[in-house]
Amino acid sequence: MDKLPILDLKRSYAGIKDEIRSALDLVFESQGFILGPEVRAFEEDAENYLDAKPKCSAIGCASGSDALLLALMALDIGPGDEVVTTPYSFFATVSCITRIGATPVFADIDPATYNIDIDKTKEKFTPKTKVFLPVHLFGQMTPIEEIAQFCRERSVVVVEDAAQAFGSWRKVGSSITRAGVAGDVGCYSFFPTKNLGACGDAGLVTTSDSKLASRLRRLRVHGEGDTYFHEEVGLNSRLDAIQAAILRVKLRHLEEWNAERRVLADNYRLLFESRNLTGHIAPPAELEGNFHIYHQYVVRAERRDELRAYLEGQGISARVYYPLPLHLQKCFAFLGLKKGDFPESEKLSQDSLALPIFSGLKGEEQERLVKTIADFYKKF
Ligand SMILES: Cc1ncc(COP(=O)(O)O)c(C=O)c1O
Repeated sequence: MDKLPILDLKRSYAGIKDEIRSALDLVFESQGFILGPEVRAFEEDAENYLDAKPKCSAIGCASGSDALLLALMALDIGPGDEVVTTPYSFFATVSCITRIGATPVFADIDPATYNIDIDKTKEKFTPKTKVFLPVHLFGQMTPIEEIAQFCRERSVVVVEDAAQAFGSWRKVGSSITRAGVAGDVGCYSFFPTKNLGACGDAGLVTTSDSKLASRLRRLRVHGEGDTYFHEEVGLNSRLDAIQAAILRVKLRHLEEWNAERRVLADNYRLLFESRNLTGHIAPPAELEGNFHIYHQYVVRAERRDELRAYLEGQGISARVYYPLPLHLQKCFAFLGLKKGDFPESEKLSQDSLALPIFSGLKGEEQERLVKTIADFYKKF
């Protein structure tokens, strides 16, 4: 029996191979590899695609982790400042905060969407709160429109971790806003496994604040003003032309790939229903008005670890994002948080299971997977 991987990038690559090769040829012909016109062209493509109102500036950088770090550096966040965020995310969401000496303050998640629970968030704000940092986890936007206003009134900056959500959007009334441009600063990752993935590390920061944009551009090149004259200490976090060229090609296909993921997600839900699995498997909830792009398709599964082992035995890969919430990570022990502090996040870390979802995944592969899940719950 063929293996079913959690992700197979070869399938989407097959459809764009020639476009990628031609784009790379141009970069090699130019022999310009760091920043330069190709990077600027990608930034412009991203600015147009994100369609922020007012228009945003996009600043390419070396990774999503750096995008977050640069954003907090540009906002002068540091010791004594608090950043309100979720304990259920990838590590970089919180390491960027502690790395600059600020303090993460967590609010628990909504068990249906896995994103920070907005109702639990406001009570976490103190006079020290400088940033609210929601994560649009697994490709679905956190509904931040109301709390963004609350933040504005307190001069708290909204920095969105949209690392998993480039292309996701949310409709409120008649207006549609993409992930990353609903707050003040947006941070994206183009790690190869992302919906819009480079062929190495890459990231992007966006903002409609032109002063902040200039500061971000300076910070990504060692804080350099004129060449070899440094206004401040920044990072070496430049986006390279090869990644930019690849991202420009892939961006042209993103809408089609995201639409395909949504069809696959819907198909999983129908298959779970048709096999009466909904007592064992809870599919991810999509909030009204949201255009979830299913960067990951994460269900809640009864006896998750046994199910996962059974699937592996049948040649089917499933993953756990994330097995330990951030407040319980060893490196954050100094925060003095303990088990039981964020029960929804802790529960999710025990039963979440990511199933394969990617462009080119076949209906029959989904059927095989769902049948195997049904076999597990029948047998054991
Ligand atoms: C939610 C979230 N934030 C930040 C990052 C960091 O991005 P990168 O891996 O590009 O540094 C990731 C990447 O996995 C992520 O998923």
